Amino acid sequence: MRLYPMSAPAAAATYSKDQPFPARMTESRLLNKPGSAKETRHFVVSLAGSGLHYSAGDSVGIFPENRPSEVAEIIRRLDATGDEPVLPAMLKLTAPIALREALTTRLALAGPTAKIVGTLAAKATDVHEKAKLAGLLSPESKDVLATFLDEREFVDLLAEFPSAKLTPQELVDHLRKLMPRLYSIASSPRVYPSDVHLTVAVVRYRTNERERAGVCSTFLADRVHVGTTPVRVFVSSSHFGPPEDGAKDCIMVGPGTGIAPFRAFVQDRVASGATGRNWVFFGDQKGATDFLYGDEWEQYLAKGQVARLDLAWSRDQFTKVYVQDKMRANAAELWTWLQGGAHFYVCGDAKRMAKDVDVALHDIVSVQGGMTPALAADYVKQLKKEKRYQRDVY
Ligand SMILES: Cc1cc2nc3c(=O)[nH]c(=O)nc-3n(C[C@H](O)[C@H](O)[C@H](O)COP(=O)(O)OP(=O)(O)OC[C@H]3O[C@@H](n4cnc5c(N)ncnc54)[C@H](O)[C@@H]3O)c2cc1C
Ligand SMILES: NC(=O)c1ccc[n+]([C@@H]2O[C@H](COP(=O)([O-])OP(=O)(O)OC[C@H]3O[C@@H](n4cnc5c(N)ncnc54)[C@H](OP(=O)(O)O)[C@@H]3O)[C@@H](O)[C@H]2O)c1
Repeated sequence: MRLYPMSAPAAAATYSKDQPFPARMTESRLLNKPGSAKETRHFVVSLAGSGLHYSAGDSVGIFPENRPSEVAEIIRRLDATGDEPVLPAMLKLTAPIALREALTTRLALAGPTAKIVGTLAAKATDVHEKAKLAGLLSPESKDVLATFLDEREFVDLLAEFPSAKLTPQELVDHLRKLMPRLYSIASSPRVYPSDVHLTVAVVRYRTNERERAGVCSTFLADRVHVGTTPVRVFVSSSHFGPPEDGAKDCIMVGPGTGIAPFRAFVQDRVASGATGRNWVFFGDQKGATDFLYGDEWEQYLAKGQVARLDLAWSRDQFTKVYVQDKMRANAAELWTWLQGGAHFYVCGDAKRMAKDVDVALHDIVSVQGGMTPALAADYVKQLKKEKRYQRDVY
């Protein structure tokens, strides 16, 4: 564990992706209730002393560190100490750094490619290992190789082919740069000018009989200690944001962690005295355990600061209910809001949810507006052109 420096951080307003601010986490809290299958956490990161500013709708970038246990296993399997100097090809450094530092803060330990399989095949001395590697590299094994690599990280390959004996330098030359991860800010600067709130789904799963951990989400959840460990952050500005005209209505669709920016939008609009109405669609697995920030939404609703709150619990009944089902069930009113100039926002999963919500929006416009699918598509295009349909999906 590294300690937060006691001296004040350097000159204000110079922090960026190239020079991230060593911020302090001041709060870490589980948002799901006991019995949930999910692990979604609320983090508060202080920007005090950084000179950094943000707007509702912006994201922060975070530079994570890899798991010490995984770094230690790699060092052990290389028969190294961690102190060996290395010059990883991807980092374009002018001076070597220690192997342990390279593996902890600079290089990604996941995502092996065929290139390392080729290197292992050239270096393996054990006949069984050599045969397995040659099989994986044969032209007819393309799909097998893809599945094999999908289920493995670099440490798995060192464990499975110990006779290949890579040097520290040979290994690091196969690793990609460890990239920062972006998180939608879940707070408004009008309410929290020197803090950013984050809503993070912690990624944990199992492949090839090993427990895997999403690098950044578990860095924040497991390895950052509140008040002590520095978290290297930068602000990533976005065009995504609440309407400049506070009189406009807002429809916000944000299941799962997609709710994050809409917590910021509503805080922001309440604090600025925006008169437009807020309509929030939220969904997650179970109402009893996964209603993220449920108390806050209930209070906003009770005070009329959120005019409508529609909740889709996908696993509270046999048939899945999703946010787009709630949109369809309220199609006439949604259409009235849109015709009245409302802005429509979507945040969260890009692969399935955002596509299905887009289809639902087109269907609602077509049916409620009495338009052909082509005319409905034009209507939605116009919404986008007027920046009244914005998405922040990942
Ligand atoms: C603009 C933007 C905003 C974002 N906002 C948020 C936010 O508010 N909250 C949030 O939680 N995330 C958000 N994200 C996503 C976030 O940036 C990270 O991608 C996410 O936290 C995972 O990062 P990680 O380092 O923990 O996982 P990584 O180490 O990057 O691992 C993730 C990878 O693990 C693999 N994987 C995951 N689950 C499984 C599984 N079950 N089986 C097999 N493989 C699997 C997949 O290959 C996946 O790509 C946002 C992304 C963007 C671009
Ligand atoms: N690999 C993938 O395909 C995938 C998909 C989504 C999220 N993720 C990742 O999983 C992590 C957790 O995400 P999260 O907590 O934000 O929530 P999430 O997994 O996106 O789930 C939130 C809610 O959305 C529902 N959902 C699933 N498919 C949907 C669809 N097509 N349309 C509308 N809603 C749908 C989920 O239902 P059910 O789960 O009950 O179906 C759940 O109720 C994130 O890291 C995210 O990037 C991965």
